[in-house]
Amino acid sequence: MPHATHLSRRALLTAPLAVAAGCRAQGTAAAPAARADPAPFRTLAPFPVGTCAMSDQMQDPQFAALLATNFDQLTPEWEMKMEAILQKDGRLDFTLPDAIAAVASSRGMRLHATTLVWHEQKAPAFLALDGQTTRFKVAYRNYILAVAGRYRGRAAGWDVVNEPVRNDSEGYYDSIFSRNLGPAHIEDAFFLAREADPKAVLFLNEYNLEYMPAKRRLFLKLAERLLKAGAPLGGLGTQSHLVASSRLGQVTESLRDLASLGLPIHVSELDVSTKEGTYVAMGQAERLTRQAALVQETVEAFSALPAAQRYALTVWGVRDKDAWKARPPNDGTDQPLLFDAQGKAKPAARAFAEALAKAPR
Ligand code: XIL
Repeated sequence: MPHATHLSRRALLTAPLAVAAGCRAQGTAAAPAARADPAPFRTLAPFPVGTCAMSDQMQDPQFAALLATNFDQLTPEWEMKMEAILQKDGRLDFTLPDAIAAVASSRGMRLHATTLVWHEQKAPAFLALDGQTTRFKVAYRNYILAVAGRYRGRAAGWDVVNEPVRNDSEGYYDSIFSRNLGPAHIEDAFFLAREADPKAVLFLNEYNLEYMPAKRRLFLKLAERLLKAGAPLGGLGTQSHLVASSRLGQVTESLRDLASLGLPIHVSELDVSTKEGTYVAMGQAERLTRQAALVQETVEAFSALPAAQRYALTVWGVRDKDAWKARPPNDGTDQPLLFDAQGKAKPAARAFAEALAKAPR
């Protein structure tokens, strides 16, 4: 058992820096000793632990090492989305998503695929068909069959529809897809994905569910509508883009609610912003402590679900410098992930590992 799992989180967060055995040279008292890394996440968890990646990040040896050590599931961060695959002239370019799928398979990691239909995606090839309902319908069918079909037998799961519920909780997003195909484009996408891939777990994926109970209700209502229509909805994804200033308890409540339909749950994009939210006179150290507490809560609440409902727990990136929240147009100061820019484990990584080690088998 790794040493980190014997210590309480409080002890880990407040203890003076632990000295790795044999690492301290005599007479170097001034130099802070490095803390031992937490044990590899994937060896601690009784469920898959995922992260996301872009194909070029694999060339970075530190990224590749952290990935291989800690994670056993991989989601393409961007390159399997419609705007990336579908070219202006209607061609499908699978070069980059194939590269990620190949990394997953060569390292024995499970592939989680994302995303087939997302109202935010404004692919020119679909924009060009706006208003031509029959052609639009054929293109929609062909796109889903081709993309989900490409990864048949390789993707453990697919986010079939991403972010369907409006953030004002007043209904579902209007999009080029709903305008041309009506609200049934959502169930259609599930049926088509199933036609293309008979085995992948098919997900509805959504964000802000912990902070917006009304949005959560609409999300669950949509899931029930799909199930009633006989659509092959197989799981619910909750992105879990959290904010360090938020109060504890909301993630637990949300995960319990989401699990009430009995479907597998994917914490699909966990990160905890240290920048968004309100921080009255709160320094960075305290933000990182709160971040660790939220990460701990998320792992504990996910671990408490029945084993059959624990599809995976995915962190949205590896090091703070890899985080989408730290990229332009953001100013680069957000630190939402488990490893810092140098690749060192943060308090949140230790809290993550310790909570994983306690998850019921
Ligand atoms: C983000 C990626 O992290 C970025 O690299 C990309 O520029 C935009 O998309 N919700 C989602 C994810 O469903 O697909 C988003 O990922 C983050 C928010």
